[in-house]
Amino acid sequence: MESEHAHRKDEHLALAEAEFKKNPPISSLNQVRLIHRSLPETNVQHVDLRIQDTALNWDYPFYIEAMTGGSYKTGEINEQLATVAKTTGLAMAVGSQSIALKDFDAIPSFEIARKANPDGFLIANIGAGHTAYEAQRVINMIGANALEVHVNVAQEIVMAEGDRDFHWLESIGEIITTSSVPVIIKEVGFGMDQQTILQLEQLGAKYINVGGRSGTNFAVIEDRRNRTDTPKNSHHYLYDWGQTTAESLLEAQSSSAHIMATGGISSPLDVVKAQVLGAKAVGVAGYFLHDLLSFGPEHLIETIQLWQAHLPKLYALVGASQQSDLTAVPYVLNSELSNYAQQRNLNTPKF
Ligand SMILES: Cc1cc2nc3c(=O)[nH]c(=O)nc-3n(C[C@H](O)[C@H](O)[C@H](O)COP(=O)(O)O)c2cc1C
Repeated sequence: MESEHAHRKDEHLALAEAEFKKNPPISSLNQVRLIHRSLPETNVQHVDLRIQDTALNWDYPFYIEAMTGGSYKTGEINEQLATVAKTTGLAMAVGSQSIALKDFDAIPSFEIARKANPDGFLIANIGAGHTAYEAQRVINMIGANALEVHVNVAQEIVMAEGDRDFHWLESIGEIITTSSVPVIIKEVGFGMDQQTILQLEQLGAKYINVGGRSGTNFAVIEDRRNRTDTPKNSHHYLYDWGQTTAESLLEAQSSSAHIMATGGISSPLDVVKAQVLGAKAVGVAGYFLHDLLSFGPEHLIETIQLWQAHLPKLYALVGASQQSDLTAVPYVLNSELSNYAQQRNLNTPKF
């Protein structure tokens, strides 16, 4: 008999997929248009997709974002995702391992990712509020190459059994200082603002995933889990809480950290747009999960290989041969997003 926490992991998976099917996310990056140029002076064959970072030295600018582990069923998904990551050469994050700190039966559902992909780039995952010692335990559990610490206050607020104490700065700082691998501080889909990014930088954060709204929505998912999605108990007024992925990337314009993005990414063009707005790498969760659950691992491999083949073409189309060229690509924002940027006094040089 699996624990209540393990059951929660199964529910997240099932509900995320059910919501994806019911309301397929519309990427907030649709609010950004890249300017077409007829003379880009590029060659698709010469495009280099590699991330220009010594610690996160990935071959591709997108990766499989944190989702599963903790139950038998989600362990199977982790194994499939890790096999996909191995075949396609993508980095991959496992889902939150906090369950495995208390429930040792959950450990194999994470270890399986390392077994399936012994030499791949694997990212461990833990919630904010855990100690540096616990963070190191989850890193060691899967021989991780990096650690994600997720911040999810809005999710916890909606979750009936969620945390209610959000004093996280001190423990995040300790984790950053002591971790044996690079630490990525990551939002789970409610986005970040300038102030949060600055606070994290002051703690020494070098990798920040602004994880914005417009993809998987944990306010909705937790409401479904609570069975409170009735007019009486629902948190429906929080369903559009937070900054979108596009807004969050604008918020991060003046950051000196290695900015990453997640939330609603569903095409290679979304990856490129996020990069133009300053993301060095882009995580994909719900879209890949849907592909895997609907069509199986072989299909997900084909989807990822298609993205990998299309990205050099898109780089060449916008006049870029490598990642660093992308930030020079001109773009325009739709009126809603440009209004947001203006009201927030955001430094968007090409805006
Ligand atoms: C089923 C599911 C489970 C998730 N579990 C975690 C988790 O344990 N830890 C975490 O940091 N993010 C978790 N996420 C959030 C994703 O990593 C990602 O930040 C979010 O879903 C937004 O990206 P998307 O729109 O591509 O899905 C989960 C997402 C899904 C779909």
